Amino acid sequence: MIDAMSKPFILVPSILSADFLKLGDAIQQCVEAGINWFQLDVMDGQYVPNISFGIPIVEACRRATDAHLDVHLMIDDPGRYLDMFAAAGADSLTVHVESTRHPHADLTRIHERGLSNGLAINPGTPLSMIEELLPLADLILVMSVNPGFAGQSFIERTPDKVRRTRAMVEKAGLQTHVQVDGGITAETAKLCYDAGADVFVAASAIFQHPGGIRAGIQALRDALSLRQA
Ligand code: DX5
Repeated sequence: MIDAMSKPFILVPSILSADFLKLGDAIQQCVEAGINWFQLDVMDGQYVPNISFGIPIVEACRRATDAHLDVHLMIDDPGRYLDMFAAAGADSLTVHVESTRHPHADLTRIHERGLSNGLAINPGTPLSMIEELLPLADLILVMSVNPGFAGQSFIERTPDKVRRTRAMVEKAGLQTHVQVDGGITAETAKLCYDAGADVFVAASAIFQHPGGIRAGIQALRDALSLRQA
């Protein structure tokens, strides 16, 4: 049941913490638990210190599910790869305002390819960096950790930044999603929800939950006191 007084939310498993030997099975378990949006965290070892995976995994996920595939590009100069990730089957592409010299052009090009776009902002980057870009973005990703690794601790100032982001969106009369990613647990998800986030990415809390994937999803849903919209 969706509480009519409450805002809907979207819960997004990041496959970064899944068992890659059983990735198809992990995705299937999520889908059976009602998930219809996944995040695929692409890291290049340059923009962030870690290297994760690239186009073949996006293609494999595309074959595994019809769910929305949200590719979070933690790479230098992501504009070079928009076409390749679009062709691999992404439904949306998120670029970092810090990693591209031309965020306006990148966001526009993603739309021109028929995909949704997202604009990510790191914990140390002021919101003024994205102000001019807000009308172009379908989603603002407020990073709640410094990007690079799953399993990091949530940065406590994040809800305040989420609140200011939501206020910017509302002041501009937009419907932009406000997504949080990093250190999302039952407790931190609730703090971000109350601050105005509506899209919640979690890797460890879902794929490393001691009770299994379904229990991880349920714990986050219970904390948010809502069914997934
Ligand atoms: C950036 C990644 C991580 C990851 C989430 O480093 O985008 O934030 O998806 O991992 P957890 O949920 O384990 O913090």
